[in-house]
Order: sequence, then C-alpha cells, then structure tokens
Amino acid sequence: MVFCIESKQRPLGARALVTGGAGFIGSHLVDALVEDGWQVAVLDNLSTGRLENLAQSQDRIEFVEGDIRDLKLVGRLAKGCKAVFHQAAVVSVPLTVQDPVGSAEVNEIGTLHVLEACRRQKVKSVVLASSCAVYGDDPQVPKKEDMTPRPSSPYAVQKLAGEYYAGVFSSLYGLSAVCLRYFNVYGPRQDPSSPYSGVISIFMDRAVKKLPPTIYGDGLQYRDFIFVKDVVRANLLAASAAAAAGKVFNIGTGRQVTINDLWKQISKISEYAAAPEYGTARDGDIRESLADTGTAKAELGFEPEVSFKDGLASTFRWFESMIHHQS
Ligand code: NAD
Ligand code: UD1
Repeated sequence: MVFCIESKQRPLGARALVTGGAGFIGSHLVDALVEDGWQVAVLDNLSTGRLENLAQSQDRIEFVEGDIRDLKLVGRLAKGCKAVFHQAAVVSVPLTVQDPVGSAEVNEIGTLHVLEACRRQKVKSVVLASSCAVYGDDPQVPKKEDMTPRPSSPYAVQKLAGEYYAGVFSSLYGLSAVCLRYFNVYGPRQDPSSPYSGVISIFMDRAVKKLPPTIYGDGLQYRDFIFVKDVVRANLLAASAAAAAGKVFNIGTGRQVTINDLWKQISKISEYAAAPEYGTARDGDIRESLADTGTAKAELGFEPEVSFKDGLASTFRWFESMIHHQS
C-alpha cells in the first residue's frame, strides 16, 4: 500500500529521494536534508524502519510506503531528483544467511532498480550505503579501499554487488554513483531489539534499564564506531563530489574502541557501574575492524567531527528519553 503524509510547507530547494528514510541512518539524513532546504521524498517499506523516526520532519516531506523491488515506483520517485540516497536494505546479516535469495532481491536487485531509475531519470548523483562487511575476515588493519574484498556472508556479497553495479553505471552511463562503506554506525534511533543489533544500542538499552550487558569473548576485540551525524555529512559531501563518481570510500573514524572499553565508557556516562557478564565469542566474529580514512579525507573532504565521548553522551540521552517516554 502506498500512502503519503501531506506536506504542509514544502521548501523550494532541489529534490532528493532517500530510500530507507524511515530507518536509523536514513531518518537522520532526511532531517539534515530538510534542514538544508531540500524537497525530500522517502521510500520505505517499514520492514525495520519506523514512522516515529521521521517525527521531526514528517510535515515537510513526502513519505511513500513502498518497496525498492518496485522499479516503476522507484522511477516515479526519482523523477526530478538532483540526488538519490540509497539506504534501504535487509541489514541483518543472519537474515541474509537464512534467506540469501529473498535478501538478494532487496539488496542486489533493489539496488539495481535504484541505479536504473536514476539512469532513466537522469539523476545527477546517487549515493549508496555499502558496508565494511565487504572486507570480511581479512585480518589486515586498517582496512583500505584497495584491499581485495573477502565477503563472508550473503549480506557482504550483496553490498559488493551494489558497489560493482555503481562502478559500471558510472563508467557506462555517466551516472555519478558513489559508494560509502560505513563502519559501525551508532546514535539515537538505533533499534536495540535484536541480539544482532549494533552493540552500542544493546549496551545503551541495558544501561538505561540498569541491567548488565553480555560481552561475547574476552572483550578485547575492537571496532571503529562512527556517530550517525558524521555518516550523514559524508553522504552530503559524496552527493556533491563530482570526481568521486564510481568510487568507494570508507566512512569511519580511524579510531579503535574495544568492547570492554565501550562498556566502561557507557557505565560512566550512565552512572551504572555493573560488571559485564562474559559469554562465548560469536561464531565468525571479526576480531579487529578499523578504517583507513585517508581516501575519504582526500577526495570527499570528509573528516568525522563528533568525538566518541560526545556521541555516546548524546546517544545515552536519547535512550534515556525513550525509557521515560515508555514508562
Ligand atoms: P535500518 O534497518 O534502520 O534502515 C533500513 C531501512 O530500509 C528501514 O527503514 C527499512 O524499513 C527499509 N527497507 C528495507 N527493505 C526495504 C525495501 N525492500 N524497500 C524499501 N525500504 C526498505 O538500518 P540502518 O542501520 O539505518 O542501515 C541503513 C543502511 O546502512 C543499510 O543499507 C545498511 O546496510 C547500511 N549499513 C549500516 C551500518 C550500521 O552500522 N548501522 C553499517 C554498514 C552499513
Ligand atoms: C555488524 C554487522 C555487520 C556490519 C558491521 C558494520 C552483524 C552480525 N554484523 O558487525 O554486518 O557490516 O556491523 O556495521 O549484524 N557484542 C557483544 N555483546 C553484545 C553485542 C555485540 O559483546 O550484546 C560484540 C560482538 O561480538 C562484536 C562487537 O560487539 O565483537 C560488535 O558487534 P556488532 O555491533 O554486532 O557489530 P559487528 O560485529 O562489527
């Protein structure tokens, strides 16, 4: 079913489409585009996204509940757009393992639909959400864009396919398609409800409920956590970087945080000093993940601005407000 939230006051800026705009990252992108004066359309099937995420912008956007598997619909929404930001995806790795074909219909064919709609509608620039998952279990750190990808899940293969299509659409058809390999994104609106949700959202949820977290393995594994607002800035820069067409960029901070240290910092912010529980390491868990950020800095002019301390504090305030909201 397709429905729209009526626009009360639509700004006169350029038009942009955000697929997956009701999701965690997409909704922050929508808010930033609206603030910048863009006319924003959102296409989302609400499979993991929520309309509540769009509360801040809902009376200034066109929201369409629909699916990127519907090429005609994507084409209709891409018409007249200056930029398309493609965030929609089956984001759960375990789900892609359970259903490699169904998830490929969204993550591969859906992405191809977005690129094809943009080609037909002569959209100036497309930014695709890719993932550091494409590096797989390669132990080399930091991860550099020119390393050979080692996808180890259907999700990673599907993201890589999207990158390859973006490269081909840029060279064959002159479309400016830029791929951003997000590292571990965190921030307000990240859903903590699945055991495979991002670790920061799970730990925040535990902290506000005054429950100890479980750390899988020894907790010395580390990640490169990037605040969602920095990821939004990277998208905006990528949309206006003409020379970046067909290229891929790591979007991380170049700063590593172990899972043990993460809980220490959250305990401090939340003033909940419980010792974590330790469980067995997850099968296939990646030990060390860290971005080389040089290419994004040199070619997109992108550098993260939010310190880990400030990002965590802002995320904690949001989780706390949600708990008060629910009670
Ligand atoms: P999310 O689940 O909050 O957002 C995905 C959105 O896409 C949801 O709103 C969902 O309803 C929508 N969607 C899913 N299938 C759809 C379909 N067939 N048609 C239309 N809409 C559909 O997840 P997120 O964390 O905001 O992820 C956004 C993008 O970033 C995804 O492409 C994801 O693969 C990528 N990514 C995220 C992270 C991270 O750390 N969160 C890391 C790497 C890459
Ligand atoms: C996740 C995604 C991957 C994506 C990557 C970057 C999964 C399975 N993987 O992997 O697709 O590309 O982010 O965004 O969804 N942990 C705990 N306790 C918890 C939860 C997690 O100790 O309650 C640990 C995990 O074992 C892991 C680390 O925290 O070592 C980070 O976990 P997670 O947030 O799931 O991210 P990734 O493993 O990097």
